[in-house]
Amino acid sequence: MKIGVIGTGYVGLVTAVCLADLGHDVVGTDVVADKIDKASRGISHIYEPGLEELLKANLKKGNLNFTPDLDKAIQSSDVLFVSVNTPQKEDGSADMTFVEGVSRKIADNLNDYKVVVEKSTVPVKTSMWIKKTITLYKKKDVDFDVASNPEFLREGSAVSDFLNPDRIIIGVETEKARDILVKIYEKFKDRILVTNIDTAEIIKHASNSYLALKISYINLIAELCEKTDADVNQVAKGMGFDPRIGSQFLRAGLGY
Ligand SMILES: NC(=O)c1ccc[n+]([C@@H]2O[C@H](COP(=O)([O-])OP(=O)(O)OC[C@H]3O[C@@H](n4cnc5c(N)ncnc54)[C@H](O)[C@@H]3O)[C@@H](O)[C@H]2O)c1
Repeated sequence: MKIGVIGTGYVGLVTAVCLADLGHDVVGTDVVADKIDKASRGISHIYEPGLEELLKANLKKGNLNFTPDLDKAIQSSDVLFVSVNTPQKEDGSADMTFVEGVSRKIADNLNDYKVVVEKSTVPVKTSMWIKKTITLYKKKDVDFDVASNPEFLREGSAVSDFLNPDRIIIGVETEKARDILVKIYEKFKDRILVTNIDTAEIIKHASNSYLALKISYINLIAELCEKTDADVNQVAKGMGFDPRIGSQFLRAGLGY
């Protein structure tokens, strides 16, 4: 089974390198030729502890490649992880231009059954929208599945987060796609949660917004502390001893 990673930016490069390290045959592709050129030479365009070492090791093993040829990468892959950027627009909504561009490219190059996996952080129902786009524009009468596998890595510990995940969320609508994705993450089978696609997409947003909520909450408490003689750090420490609350993401400040 060959895996293609479309968009080898922060998430994509880590995904490509770590999936190769799990033993898969991976090809990474990006529209920015410099990123592909560097990655092909074992140079990471981002700094992440351990990433460049794993990149070099897996290039040497021969199961990790990079190409600027998006068409070829799509045609030669059985599973496509889409990890392109989804920047925020002025009105706060996600700019889906890159996801749409990739969906059209997949439609153009759909030569065999593939699973198209959404790894980017996207609005709920995006997988269904990708499915409609590919179905509308595909040139051959070939089957495909869409799936959602949101990414939870943190910048600064991305490799360790990917290789020691606290959970792998897999949103699918067919057994075939489920079996393929569960096999890819077989090493972490005790941490896999299989859901439908909408659920997987909402898990990502619910997790992000819950963490934001904790930081916002402690900042609100910090304002109260400033008006009294209370010390917000000790308040957070005191709250965090309660396992139902936990101590993480209770530090007042900018946070995100
Ligand atoms: N960075 C993080 O910590 C993080 C964590 C979890 C989720 N995410 C989400 O993952 C997604 C990617 O984030 P990122 O930080 O890796 O972004 P990024 O900007 O670093 O990488 C995106 C890459 O996609 C490439 N790209 C754009 N259009 C393309 C196309 N048509 N074909 C091929 N490549 C294309 C870009 O050139 C870029 O290299 C976003 O939705 C983001 O919200 C990011």
